[in-house]
Amino acid sequence: MCQFSRLLVLQLVLCLAFGHIYGHQMPIVGGSAVTEKKYPYFVRLYYENKFICGGSLVRNNAVLTAAHCVEDSSGEDFSVKALSVHAGTINLGDTGVEREIKYAMVSKEYDAETANYDVAVLILSSTIPSASVIPLDRSAVADGTSCLVIGHGHTEEGGVVSNQLQKTYVPVVSREECQREYGDNGIITQYMMCASEPGKKDSCPGDSGGPMICNGKQAGIVSWGEGCGRVEYPGVYTDISKVYGFIEYALMIENIVFI
Ligand code: ARG
Repeated sequence: MCQFSRLLVLQLVLCLAFGHIYGHQMPIVGGSAVTEKKYPYFVRLYYENKFICGGSLVRNNAVLTAAHCVEDSSGEDFSVKALSVHAGTINLGDTGVEREIKYAMVSKEYDAETANYDVAVLILSSTIPSASVIPLDRSAVADGTSCLVIGHGHTEEGGVVSNQLQKTYVPVVSREECQREYGDNGIITQYMMCASEPGKKDSCPGDSGGPMICNGKQAGIVSWGEGCGRVEYPGVYTDISKVYGFIEYALMIENIVFI
């Protein structure tokens, strides 16, 4: 962390004095690097060969991600042809197993303005036989539960994506408390849940679409937040227990042949 040449005494002094602030790698925000392939259900989502979001395998041919990951900032849907996923790696530099997307499903309830109902199901062009899938939590998670969040997102507000997959644990904050914190700066709908360790641990841009895992099941999808790791604003996640019906339905449609 503190690298300096013998002559740069000033740098040494600064590094020792402030190293804990500016020298720290702040992964995800306030997490640590994943060094083993412990989360094989984690996937990266790409658009036109650019990394855009995280996601999770919920079937060996289906990925769960955020709706805002499959449309551009003006609310236009992305062309499914230009989307792809990479599975089975913990470093952005590794290709892993790559699949194209056959089709993407977003609910009509999704509202790009408020990020309400921020969930999408992507059906892959072909199965990933080696896939390990994450079970979904059908019931709401209790406030205060410590949940795992993983992703390649920015390691600090205004930062850059992280080549190495990062993880952190964040406690669930009640929806009421979260709405109080956001005040007029955001609506916390019944389809959202909040979590963060104020000022310390949070998800950040680039983590979107990725899973939040509580008690071994996926309970949330990284959705939005004001800045990252701020004291006053928790991270906001899509509450899987509230959109479970949509996910189940999307996965079922996949088995229906339209003629
Ligand atoms: N919307 C972001 C993305 O597209 C996720 C931001 C999460 N922010 C937060 N403070 N938890 O990657």
